[in-house]
Amino acid sequence: MAVTLNVNNKTHEITADPATPLLYVLRDELKLNAAKFGCGLGQCGSCTVMVDGEAMLSCVTPVMALAGRKVTTLEGLGTIEAPAPIQAAFIEMQAAQCGYCIPGMMMSAQALLQKNPEPSDREIRDALRTNLCRCGTHMRILAAIKRAGQVMKTGRTG
Ligand code: FES
Repeated sequence: MAVTLNVNNKTHEITADPATPLLYVLRDELKLNAAKFGCGLGQCGSCTVMVDGEAMLSCVTPVMALAGRKVTTLEGLGTIEAPAPIQAAFIEMQAAQCGYCIPGMMMSAQALLQKNPEPSDREIRDALRTNLCRCGTHMRILAAIKRAGQVMKTGRTG
């Protein structure tokens, strides 16, 4: 069946079973590999993307649920040359260790910061409660999210 998807402000016509998880289409069809396959069961957060500005687990989101909606992946936020504030802050704070969970962490954080650029520690922890990290860089992740929020709010990077 033909499915129309809007991903990172581009329209894609794909042929897929409507029940196909968005994650598979992103990675296998569109070659957008930031979102990761972790558990495939909606339990780890490594596949997190944004749909209409809300964090969503792409491994348990069927493509048929996305008609007329706007999907954003980490690739849609910024580039290596011009990283988005959340990407720049994770680099600045060295918030990654193995890095597998980080794209999902950043997408959950981005969805939070778009609504609330000055979240408390509790609000950050709540927003990222579905994003698991086994490396233990949580304190750096918290610091990076706060840093990105400052930049998003003030526009100042210094
Ligand atoms: Fe989607 Fe784990 S791969 S939540």
